Amino acid sequence: MILEIRNLSASVEDKQILKDVNLKIGGGEIHALMGPNGAGKSTLGNVLIGHPDYKITGGQIILDGKDITYATPEERARAGLFLAFQSPVAVEGVRISTFLRIAYSHLHPDEKIVISEFNKRIKEAMKTVGLDESFISRSVNDGFSGGERKRFEILQMLILKPKMIILDEIDSGLDVDALRMVAEQLKKYFSKDVGYLIITHYQRILKDIEPQFVHVLVNGTIAINGDKSLSDKIEENGYDWLKEVA
Ligand SMILES: Nc1ncnc2c1ncn2[C@@H]1O[C@H](COP(=O)(O)OP(=O)(O)OP(=O)(O)O)[C@@H](O)[C@H]1O
Ligand SMILES: [Mg+2]
Repeated sequence: MILEIRNLSASVEDKQILKDVNLKIGGGEIHALMGPNGAGKSTLGNVLIGHPDYKITGGQIILDGKDITYATPEERARAGLFLAFQSPVAVEGVRISTFLRIAYSHLHPDEKIVISEFNKRIKEAMKTVGLDESFISRSVNDGFSGGERKRFEILQMLILKPKMIILDEIDSGLDVDALRMVAEQLKKYFSKDVGYLIITHYQRILKDIEPQFVHVLVNGTIAINGDKSLSDKIEENGYDWLKEVA
């Protein structure tokens, strides 16, 4: 599995946000994406999953050699790309069990799902991520606390089994135990077939799940690439020195 982002530019509401972003993420690689507030990190995530509000104005997104720049979100999911749903507007009123089943069938169209067996799997994963069993019949993200949403993102990863995983601030707003659980599950799920793009402001999660590659987005463009030491440098010095570079 290789995700290639080539000279990607994108706008939202006619405002140019991303400019010539280049990134390559292979299986067995952990990448961290950092950058100041408003740099365009979440926008990149949204563009990658094909969120309809974001317009690609240039460049390409290639997944395993296949151009998915203009593919629908369903086509992307089928190709193995995963970004946990954060703005749940589109799935309002849909039960978690139904939502996961539909999403799973997009990702694994050749597999036949036995509902009772599938629900059992969901319940087991709920235990793993620390969500009460009763959540299975609740609507997606409806009235979820901040931490419950994050736990649900990890649940989606465990159930849907995607290949390329983009996590946008999975570590913000979590209590200590939840943070440990998230890091543990991310480590456990990781393999040579799976690529991670972890968008974060914090060092903490990067200590647990160490990235080989760190990229810093400033003003919609990658200002610098490096290894783990780059995130340490940012922790120490902030982003101002990079704003001059970008
Ligand atoms: N749907 C939208 N409508 C209007 N403006 C948007 C939309 N999405 C993003 N933007 C704008 O694009 C810019 C980049 O936002 P984005 O959310 O990508 O930043 P970010 O790097 O994720 O920041 P943060 O660290 O605060 O999460 C911001 O100026 C934001 O206001
Ligand atoms: Mg963001």
